Amino acid sequence: MKDKSFIPPERVLMGPGPSDVSQRILDAMARPTIGHLDPAFISMMDEIKGLLQYAFQTKNDLTFAVSAPGMAGMECCFANLVETEDKVIIAKNGFFGERMKENVERFGGVPIVIDDEWGTKVDLNKIQEALKQHSDAKIVASVHAETSTGALTDPESITKLAHDHGCLSIVDTVTGLAGVPLKVDDWNIDAIYSGTQKCLSASPGLSPISFSERAKEKIKNRKSKVKSWFLDLNLIMSYWEGEGGRSYHHTAPINALYGLHEALIILKEEGIENSWKRHMENHLLLREGLEKLNISYLVNKEDRLPQLNAIYIPEGVNDLESRQRLLNDFNLEIGAGLGVLAGKVWRIGLMGHSSKKENIDHCLQSLAQVI
Ligand SMILES: Cc1ncc(COP(=O)(O)O)c(C=O)c1O
Repeated sequence: MKDKSFIPPERVLMGPGPSDVSQRILDAMARPTIGHLDPAFISMMDEIKGLLQYAFQTKNDLTFAVSAPGMAGMECCFANLVETEDKVIIAKNGFFGERMKENVERFGGVPIVIDDEWGTKVDLNKIQEALKQHSDAKIVASVHAETSTGALTDPESITKLAHDHGCLSIVDTVTGLAGVPLKVDDWNIDAIYSGTQKCLSASPGLSPISFSERAKEKIKNRKSKVKSWFLDLNLIMSYWEGEGGRSYHHTAPINALYGLHEALIILKEEGIENSWKRHMENHLLLREGLEKLNISYLVNKEDRLPQLNAIYIPEGVNDLESRQRLLNDFNLEIGAGLGVLAGKVWRIGLMGHSSKKENIDHCLQSLAQVI
């Protein structure tokens, strides 16, 4: 039998990511591939840097997209900033905090994990206590938008505490960027990474990232080589930062970057504040509909992420069967619970291009039939 091309089914993506990619971005990605050292491509990379600075609200020079997904952004931060025996305080209130711990261990650091219950935000008092107890700590890491639970954390206050104790701050905003307010410079964040497949609604596979001058200094003055060749910023810097004279590091994912470029233009056209506002307005609309269906949220009202709605699966409703029906009968993808929340919650994403009224209506109508 002859192999056939893959034609994906048409879905409405309302899970924890990826979100729907607009036709405009798909069209951009379908444009002809050119060389990654072609001057036209290099000038597009410069534009991406400027557009990412806008998205992150930063003037950080070292702002670019890692050529791999959000996990690579996480790994890039820890690989470059952690040295052997460095103590790293990790504010863990969900699945991704656990991955930060793994990263610290693999790069030879000592993780000090501060646990908060899944579904709650990070308790600042506990971070302060940990900083007092571990006065030799070097870094505080936290997750701005915990995709596993839908809880929003306050990276500004965590960064302030970190700096008061002479630490750098690493922030995961894979789900946060463009969905909730984020001001990297005003909040003095040192290292921050995101993903393209959430509120930017570009295709998965790239990780926007940004480092402050303080973080750059630490990387330049490392006692030992970064333990990952691919993610060593000392090498990447000359690729993304070498104005007019870029040297070969790796072959960039050219068409994926066309997509990111278009996604960032769309964000700038909308305006970052308007994007935050749209995510909140649509969240409130969804919440109203869910309340009418007697569905309740995992997270307290004040600490909820607008773009990730973790809701309790109604009693007596079968988790897997219901999600399969949503997918097969309504072409609707929502997310299952992760880790300790598996079988207990569903995660409804309202991210980027997926955050719109027609999706909310479709989701509420489909859910009403399935439960
Ligand atoms: C908070 C958070 N961090 C990191 C990641 C990893 O991103 P990726 O799946 O693009 O590697 C995700 C992905 O869902 C995430 O939600």
